[in-house]
Amino acid sequence: MSQKTALIAGATGAASIRLVDVLLADPAWSVIGLSRNPPKSAHDRLAYIRADLMDGPHTRKALSAHSGITHAFYTSRAPFKEGGLEDVEGNVAMLENLIDGLEAAAPNLAHIHLVTGSKWYGIHLGPGQSPAREDAPRHMPPNFYYDQQDVLADRQQGRQWTWSASRPNVIYDFAPERVRNLVPTIGAWAAISKELGVPLDYPGHPDSFNALTDMTDATHLAHALKWIATADTAHNQAFNATDGDFFRWRHLWQRVADHFEMELGVCRPISAEAWMADKQPLWDRIVTRHSLEAKPLGDLAAWGFLDFLTNQRFDVVSSMVKIRQAGFTETVSSIDKFIEHLARYQDARILPR
Ligand SMILES: NC(=O)c1ccc[n+]([C@@H]2O[C@H](COP(=O)([O-])OP(=O)(O)OC[C@H]3O[C@@H](n4cnc5c(N)ncnc54)[C@H](OP(=O)(O)O)[C@@H]3O)[C@@H](O)[C@H]2O)c1
Repeated sequence: MSQKTALIAGATGAASIRLVDVLLADPAWSVIGLSRNPPKSAHDRLAYIRADLMDGPHTRKALSAHSGITHAFYTSRAPFKEGGLEDVEGNVAMLENLIDGLEAAAPNLAHIHLVTGSKWYGIHLGPGQSPAREDAPRHMPPNFYYDQQDVLADRQQGRQWTWSASRPNVIYDFAPERVRNLVPTIGAWAAISKELGVPLDYPGHPDSFNALTDMTDATHLAHALKWIATADTAHNQAFNATDGDFFRWRHLWQRVADHFEMELGVCRPISAEAWMADKQPLWDRIVTRHSLEAKPLGDLAAWGFLDFLTNQRFDVVSSMVKIRQAGFTETVSSIDKFIEHLARYQDARILPR
């Protein structure tokens, strides 16, 4: 079994925090995390590089002492506003700075993996192909994923390393340090509704409530990334990387209502962000009564993210045929896993029962 050393750029983020765990559980892997701020929880075997990928010379210097890197996972993201245009120039510069640093530092570099996402298919713009296949036509740019993947594929030409890319959708997890996570967001929405004695309404349009969607459990994504980065059948191409399951929002809502022992309500197309703006005092009461960890509601729930998703009035499903045929066949039952994570937030006294 050959030893591998992974560099995870963005190691504290949604897409890769579980990749750290999954790779470190395998004795064949050493892991170096890279981000601007150190990880909040220590991991015995995790080495760490503090670097700003926007700063090329600094990134190159920070990587220069790490000649043993064999695999790199790029999972960073430049700052963005929910639903807005994302920074193509900044996101591409960060990736290029990483590639420059790796090529200068790591003579045994074998692979660079890029995490992109279902926005590749224009799901932030309107309905597209669904289930979306990896070879679906691109939408009119800008889309920083296109530029990043093109740069990566170009830079690989003539090199000894190979590349790959993954396209997850809505990464969900038990991750108390991360706000942009649908599990605590929907959990807080349900808890507040219950406290107010109202049914569990859906803050979106009926077309969205009835639409199909998919999501990606963070640990499942980590297994997929590990497989994609090391399988001979996966080199130099991109793969969708969802749970391999899909569901209608109304079915998730029903399960959340059952979990909180509430009535399922109706669709009320409102902005959750606007509607939650005055709910901090109510949340404080819930925290006190249930002896929960005191947190500002804004550190627990990403209402803008919920609004973005409940405004998708069309199916958002990625085909998982390609990755299965290439050899990765693991699947996750999304609603079951979502409820499992929800229960962990309750066990951790972050959400009430
Ligand atoms: N989250 C989702 O639901 C989701 C779904 C589908 C696709 N994706 C895609 O997955 C990729 C990763 O997104 P994410 O959601 O995991 O992002 P994230 O949670 O915001 O994490 C970003 C990571 O990159 C680091 N980072 C940010 N700017 C940096 C910089 N200048 N230099 C070094 N490190 C930097 C962050 O740590 P510091 O801030 O400490 O530097 C953090 O570790 C993106 O392409 C995103 O579009 C995400």
